[in-house]
Amino acid sequence: MFDPNGFIAEAVADLRAHVMGKAIIAASGGVDSTTAAVLASRALGENLLAVFVDTGLMRKGEVNDVAQTLKEMGVHHKIVDAREEFFTALREVEDPEKKRVIIGNKFIDIFEREARPFGAEYLVQGTIAPDWIESGGQLRDRIKTHHNVAGLPEVMHLTLAEPLRDLYKDEVRKVARALGLRVAERQPFPGPALAVRCLGEVTAEKIEIVRGACAIVEEEIEAAAKAGTMALPWQYFAVVLPVRTVGVHGDVRAYGWTVAVRAIESVDGMSGRYAKMPHEVLDRISTRITNELPNVTRVVYDVSNKPPATIEWE
Ligand code: XMP
Repeated sequence: MFDPNGFIAEAVADLRAHVMGKAIIAASGGVDSTTAAVLASRALGENLLAVFVDTGLMRKGEVNDVAQTLKEMGVHHKIVDAREEFFTALREVEDPEKKRVIIGNKFIDIFEREARPFGAEYLVQGTIAPDWIESGGQLRDRIKTHHNVAGLPEVMHLTLAEPLRDLYKDEVRKVARALGLRVAERQPFPGPALAVRCLGEVTAEKIEIVRGACAIVEEEIEAAAKAGTMALPWQYFAVVLPVRTVGVHGDVRAYGWTVAVRAIESVDGMSGRYAKMPHEVLDRISTRITNELPNVTRVVYDVSNKPPATIEWE
């Protein structure tokens, strides 16, 4: 039986014994990097700097949540507002793989720029067992390049420390819960964030729409699951399509964006079936999206399974 408290004590002692100086970590807000940051902070105190880059592509409330968690956990950290830089770098880019490369490179540039003055010799990463065991071997990795910070240790001449290296996702969640982290229960979220949920060119207008739509989908599905109306799917979100359609707002013809809702049942994300969601839940989601978000005239539900469709639309 995996003992999260025993693991925490060992991981902290191990980091203390092996990290001889200053260390940095890129905190993404996800469960792996947040857990790694808290463990490293317990071991190294002010000798750890967690850098969180606000790309402008995060979910609603996420930047504040991450800042608050790091503060509550006493992690020495820095939040970098890089929204403008990301939007500029992504201007007129439509191809999903190009988006991923641009975001990955931009992230490394900014992280390096912000972390270098701290003078760290170590890089703490939240790598977990499936990340290296299956690296490159997974179907999804050949279909979509997954964003991570793998290039960083070489670029910055840093020694890697990976406290979660031997854990699987469910074990990381147990450790996160034992540490009292809210992020333990969050559904998976792609590294390139809302950029790959904003089909076609990434614009501030479309990002605002998809951020609002994802929040509505999460709130409605989680409320329905809590009320026992449906089971919580493995992943659920919205995307905004680069298609405008005709509608009516009041008595006036409108020409607005289309939002697609995606909810998937899966075990590991490698394959999945669309969630057979109750129509009343879909109805609430659709009504809220068109009422609360500006310039959305149409909502559709994605009924594709994986394969052949992937979970994300890009
Ligand atoms: P797909 O869309 O390939 O997604 O069926 C499978 C799982 O991976 C997530 N995903 C990503 N995660 N960087 C990530 O870190 C990415 O570029 C990326 N693309 C997809 C997706 O959300 C799903 O959980």
